[in-house]
Amino acid sequence: MAKKLWEKNFSVSQEIENFTVGKDRGLDLFLARYDVLGSLAHCKMLESIGLLASEEWQLLRQGLWGIYSSAAAGTFRIESGVEDVHSQVELMLTRNLGDIGKKIHSGRSRNDQVLLDLKLFTRSELQDVCELVMGLFNALVGQSEKHKDVLMPGYTHLQVAMPSSFGLWFGAYAESLADDMLFLQAAYRMCNRNPLGSAAGYGSSFPLNRAMTTELLGFDSMNYNVVYAQMGRGKTEKNVAFALASVAGTLAKLAYDACMFNSQNFGFIKLPAECTTGSSIMPHKKNPDVFELLRAKCNRIQALPNDILLIMNNLPSGYFRDLQIIKELFLPAFAEVKDCLAMAMYIIERIEVNKEILNDSRYDAMFSVEEVNRLAAEGMPFRDAYKKVGLDIESGKFVPCKEVHHTHEGSIGNLCNKEVIAFMESTFSSMDFEKARRAERALLQE
Ligand code: ARG
Repeated sequence: MAKKLWEKNFSVSQEIENFTVGKDRGLDLFLARYDVLGSLAHCKMLESIGLLASEEWQLLRQGLWGIYSSAAAGTFRIESGVEDVHSQVELMLTRNLGDIGKKIHSGRSRNDQVLLDLKLFTRSELQDVCELVMGLFNALVGQSEKHKDVLMPGYTHLQVAMPSSFGLWFGAYAESLADDMLFLQAAYRMCNRNPLGSAAGYGSSFPLNRAMTTELLGFDSMNYNVVYAQMGRGKTEKNVAFALASVAGTLAKLAYDACMFNSQNFGFIKLPAECTTGSSIMPHKKNPDVFELLRAKCNRIQALPNDILLIMNNLPSGYFRDLQIIKELFLPAFAEVKDCLAMAMYIIERIEVNKEILNDSRYDAMFSVEEVNRLAAEGMPFRDAYKKVGLDIESGKFVPCKEVHHTHEGSIGNLCNKEVIAFMESTFSSMDFEKARRAERALLQE
């Protein structure tokens, strides 16, 4: 029996098969559960328009449920000689059900199948990512509130500049994640539109009920134009990658700060011993490898949109096999992002802060602007006060008053964490993850 869906009167050479299938037999395992869900929706729709008999649909449904279980249990495999997940599912149904299995492909192409699988997979992964981002956000806000009165130096040019605080430092990364969540929201909404029914990219002459599959799969709406639906391949991955890269950018910067502030030369934060690693030669070392690895991994994730872009940048509309290669970069990226987010949350919750930083006189100058402002408030023109304080510092006469009086929004004395939380919550809660989960559960039940 021919194992390729498209094999007719010739067989493709082994060399060509190896090259064209590439890594798909492994990578498509990421998509297996979603391929089955897509087939359940498609077959139910085929039955409703009379292209499958009711008994055929019942049998197919049982068969697909069985395949879903093996995919969920991790035992589903793509056999050698079988091209991809789409072919494997059809082959398994055909082995069990004979000609009925061969009917499921009516009005469909692997082009819209893989489009759909990618959207369903990504939709689910994005839910995980958003929830983890929310967890890290809460950890950062918690640390910000807990240490809101602990001052630290702020830097420009890596030169001691002005008073900052742990409230500001932790809170800054929380607010950065709130902006990243906007990208995730856009990515989620873009994923949450149904490409099924676009077939090879130009629709079908069967009277497909696309509204029905959209509803069955819990999508917000469909990608209406079938040509555009196909154009979403590559574009969706690229835009989702931009959202992941935005989160990764926040984490990489946080990790760099943490590495630096943890060094003895700064000594602003400390990691509990069990969160550090040692050296094989230097017995005193407690290294912040966690932050270094976070930084490197997150820097690599930031290359993802560019890597995807270079693959799909110069393609015209319509399907091309080039798009298959994007899966190699895109599918494994989620595990990496999620791992980084979980670890970032773990370590942020355990960071210890130094409450005595400002006892070191090397930071005295950061209160210079406070003193200038005090003199200006008393009536001295700002430029004269600036000059006086500058000369006092030069001549060693400057005695800092280490109190800060920052009251405006977003400053040391008025962090506005509540407002940041409200902003984050409104973005996060606009994504109805449960609707998608409900639809998927319904497809798997009697
Ligand atoms: N493995 C293919 C991919 O990822 C599936 C679609 C195949 N379609 C085709 N026209 N050859 O793109």
